[in-house]
Amino acid sequence: MSKLGPNKEEYEKILLMFSGGLDTSCMIKWLQENYKSKIYTFTADLGQEFADPSRFDEIEEKAANLGAVKHFTIDLKDKFVNEFVFPTIKANGLYQGIYPLSTAIGRPLIAIEAIKIAKQEKIQTIAHGCTGKGNDQIRFNVTIRAYAPDIEILQPLIEWDMGRDEEIKYAQYHGIPIKKENKKYSIDENLFGRSAECDILEHPEIEPPEDCNAWTTSPENAPDTPEYIQIDFEKGVPVSLNGVTINSVELIRNLHNIGCKHGIGRVNHMEDRAIGLKSREVYEVPAASILIKAHKDLEKFVCTKHENSFKTIVDQRWTELIYEGLWVDPLRDALESFINVVNQKVTGNVKLKLYKGSATVVSRESPYGLYDLNLATYDTNSNFNQKYSYGFIPLWGLQSEIGFQVKNTINSIEKLKKNSQATKLNYEYIRKNKFVKK
Ligand code: ARG
Repeated sequence: MSKLGPNKEEYEKILLMFSGGLDTSCMIKWLQENYKSKIYTFTADLGQEFADPSRFDEIEEKAANLGAVKHFTIDLKDKFVNEFVFPTIKANGLYQGIYPLSTAIGRPLIAIEAIKIAKQEKIQTIAHGCTGKGNDQIRFNVTIRAYAPDIEILQPLIEWDMGRDEEIKYAQYHGIPIKKENKKYSIDENLFGRSAECDILEHPEIEPPEDCNAWTTSPENAPDTPEYIQIDFEKGVPVSLNGVTINSVELIRNLHNIGCKHGIGRVNHMEDRAIGLKSREVYEVPAASILIKAHKDLEKFVCTKHENSFKTIVDQRWTELIYEGLWVDPLRDALESFINVVNQKVTGNVKLKLYKGSATVVSRESPYGLYDLNLATYDTNSNFNQKYSYGFIPLWGLQSEIGFQVKNTINSIEKLKKNSQATKLNYEYIRKNKFVKK
């Protein structure tokens, strides 16, 4: 099994998953100093640099300036969206009903790609910038251990004794440039969302300050007129926006931009981490909020109530598995088999109204829709035979009514016992008399 390091004094080569942020920048220097290693760096492009893709060049330059021997930027946007984000949409993946797994679902992909680079460059050791307290360490480590048992994993944040302030000092001492917002928050971004942690956000009793958001307009400042959009789905996957079929990455980007403009998807979550810690998390997830809301609505429209209720259970289990870093678990495949079967008929369109922070579904259409106007209408021309009600209700309520009555009977016996008349009363007598036809 792959070892969780460090198990040696020195490592010849280390592949570092490098975001260009404060932690992993300090790490290049620290790994060089501590393990006398050649550092290779890898940055996964999951679409995090919305405004400015040239940031990847900056990251590469930064790695080189800090002495990395070779840097890899790999464009994983298509893969990320098609193989990780879309399954999340099909599973209506909202952890604890609110967090659309944006960070969580990117992690297995990044780990798998890191392993590929490590194998190609004959590197035996992978390092990453996760703490020993969070979920990301589980997601990276379990995926790497499952795919590449021979690789050793280093987690400097567990080893070095630096808090964020010490890291900033360490960075200043080594001439490592730090972005202004890096000083405050720990950020993770990709096409599907942005997570912010640390600083004042660690105080759940305080409202997150405006500066922890980088993408969305505040709902107060969003346009005063609502915007209507239409999303078309095919087999559970979004294929077009406002009637125009576009590539999946572009679709998410466009929804992101529209959502940001209307202040959609700001999440302030009191979260239960996998290891049991409670943490306050702040997210901006405009595209994810819109897509999951639209998908769930359409799915409900085409599924029976039995499918809908069981799907909720399956979705929640899938979501927890992803959140808790067990993407490799065979249970995921089993759950996805069910999820995919249900999604075969999630085809149609959903219209939403976006207005000052809220995305509301206003209408849906599908050839698979189970809604029947003729049956549902309250107009008198409905084919629905309301007289069935006389037969249906006594049977539907049978057990519930009996259960209720038994409980009441027992309660009244208990009351009578307390009133000391109880001895005169026979429990069976009361019980029988409650249920016989009069
Ligand atoms: N709590 C979230 C999760 O576990 C987000 C973690 C994001 N990491 C960060 N450095 N902000 O998926």
